[in-house]
Amino acid sequence: MDLKKYIRDVQDFPKPGIGFKDITTLLIAPEAVKEALQQFVALAKGKGITKVVSMESRGFFFGPMIANEINAGFVPVRKPGKLPYKTVKQEYALEYGTDTLEMHLGAIEKGDKVLIHDDVLATGGTAEAVVKMVESQGAEVVQLDFLIDLTFLNGKDKLKGHHINALIEY
Ligand code: PRP
Ligand code: MG
Repeated sequence: MDLKKYIRDVQDFPKPGIGFKDITTLLIAPEAVKEALQQFVALAKGKGITKVVSMESRGFFFGPMIANEINAGFVPVRKPGKLPYKTVKQEYALEYGTDTLEMHLGAIEKGDKVLIHDDVLATGGTAEAVVKMVESQGAEVVQLDFLIDLTFLNGKDKLKGHHINALIEY
C-alpha cells in the first residue's frame, strides 16, 4: 500500500509559501491507519522497548496505539502548563524565539528503553528536545519513528547517533 497517497498537500498553510502535509486524510482511512500501525509495530517489536513517548498534539494519534501493540507504557509530552504533577522541562529553539515541552517527573525512569514517536520530522528541534528530556532521566532512546520525514529540512542532523525511521519521505 502506498501510504503517501493518503497524505493531503495543502498549499500556503500555515503561511504563504509553505506546503503542509495533512495526515487527517490518512486518519479517516482505516486501511491506511492499520497499515501504518503494522509498519510501526514491525519496526519496534523485539527491541525491549518499555515506554513510547510522543509529543502533543499530532504525536498522540499513533503513539498510544504503538505503545499498546508492543505492550509498552505511553508517556505524553505536552506544551507548557498542561500537566498537573511535577514536570521535567526542556526548552527548544523555534524559528523566532524558544518554546518549552514538559513531561511528568517519574514517567520515565532510569533503565527505560524508549521509543520516541511523532507524526512529522521537520527541522528536528522538537524531537531533539524530547531526546534530551528522556536522556536526562537516565533512560535510553532506542529509536525515533516518524510517519513523515521532510528530508529537505535535514532534521536528522539534530539527531545524530540515533536510529531514525520514517514510513514516508518527501
Ligand atoms: C509539528 C509536528 C512535529 C513538529 C516537527 O508540531 O507535529 O511535532 O512540528 O517540527 P520540527 O521537527 O521542526 O521541530 P506542531 O508544533 O506544529 O504542533 P502540533 O503537533 O500540536 O500540531
Ligand atoms: Mg507536533
